[in-house]
Amino acid sequence: MATLKAVRGTRDLLPPETELWNRVEATARSVFARYGFGEIRTPVFEATELFARGVGEETDIVSKEMYTWEDRGRADSDRGQSLTLRPENTAGVVRAYIEHKLGDTGMLQKLFYIGPQFRRERPQRGRYRQFWQIGAEVLGPAWSGSDSALRDAEVLEMLATFLNEVGVRGWQLALNSVGSSTDRPRYIAALREALEPVKSGMCENCQRRAETNPLRVLDCKEASDQATIDALPKIADYLDEESREHFAQVKAALDACGVAYVVEPRLVRGLDYYTRTTFEFTVPDGSGLGTQNALLGGGRYDGLSEMLGGPKAPGIGFAIGEDRLILTLQAQAGETAVKKLDAYIAPMGVEQNPAALALAQELRRAGLSIEVGDGSFRLKKSFDAADKLARKMVIVGENEVASGILTVKDFGAGEQSKVGRDELAATLRASSPELPDLP
Ligand code: HAM
Repeated sequence: MATLKAVRGTRDLLPPETELWNRVEATARSVFARYGFGEIRTPVFEATELFARGVGEETDIVSKEMYTWEDRGRADSDRGQSLTLRPENTAGVVRAYIEHKLGDTGMLQKLFYIGPQFRRERPQRGRYRQFWQIGAEVLGPAWSGSDSALRDAEVLEMLATFLNEVGVRGWQLALNSVGSSTDRPRYIAALREALEPVKSGMCENCQRRAETNPLRVLDCKEASDQATIDALPKIADYLDEESREHFAQVKAALDACGVAYVVEPRLVRGLDYYTRTTFEFTVPDGSGLGTQNALLGGGRYDGLSEMLGGPKAPGIGFAIGEDRLILTLQAQAGETAVKKLDAYIAPMGVEQNPAALALAQELRRAGLSIEVGDGSFRLKKSFDAADKLARKMVIVGENEVASGILTVKDFGAGEQSKVGRDELAATLRASSPELPDLP
């Protein structure tokens, strides 16, 4: 029979790597809490219409990457419904904001999430069909200050703090403004006009997008199209006074906080809900991501709530690709250090198994991390297993059980000593300096 494997584009995350995932998530939770964010957990699947309306029909995500199915009604009288595994979480958060009338509090909502997202992309390093995002959204009625440029800068400064705390080196922030909902149509019209005489020389995708959604032409990675795209009109020249001023305020606040950025006029992002500020953080070549060098992306979406039938609720947010963040940390730190257990208990015969397990129980209760071998193992096998897993080995033989004096082998120091059972926990703890943390 053929063996079953994880589906293409999905992965199992195993220890010890999961320890790094947990550390990243713990750092995110701790940083976000300092900025007043609370956690939101939305369903993994939603009505397909949410993404069609929120993310945009013409985006790659909605037009070809979603896992969508017709969910049968339970009774004959029930109508079926088109459902989709969430390809991103912003639309779900805004739906929840509308559904639970969070705007009625009049307060700014600062929400973060950590969870899997699903896109049917061609899998490669840093690009999976199930991937994790750590994201956050700040939104609320305009009178809560949700459209202030200060919020954009605060989110960006928080991201810089998070990346520094988690240990990413050399990140770069690319920043742009895609203008308001009135600037964008003017820019799109200009793009369409400029594309008309040149589009026939461009790739097939661009030719289609020039008609359906000219903004997406700016995302094209086809080498032969780059010169044409660079010569197209720039969004900065189409911003109205208010959007220009908003962008200037974002930049001024970032300067005040010492967060470095590069203005990238082509950064329009692949989702249709963005207005004004858009951004991406990238890492330098050699950071383990290959061509997928966008570690995270986000921006402002002042009209999204209304697009979904809700009240006016300007907002800004981001999502970090957690898989990519982990790859970066691993590549930048070189070999990942494996954190070892405090001790490995080696019973010398199967008769000592019960005593060995009872000793493990006692030490674990004292807060130590312990693995127990098995009395059927030969001494060499116990030594090898203990050396791989733990910093020390505690030998439990007939004499040790009778006398209560245990033999402790310290692999780091290469020493062996006798320790009374009463002092064992303290000895293991005292002589077990914490290894440096994982990268
Ligand atoms: P996005 O740019 O589509 O934005 O995704 C954000 C990040 O998720 C990317 O920068 C990347 O690191 C990661 N990512 C995306 N697709 C994959 C994949 N197939 N495999 C691995 N990682 C991936 C959004 O999703 C927006 N919801 C962000 C946002 C929040 N904007 C405002 N608020």
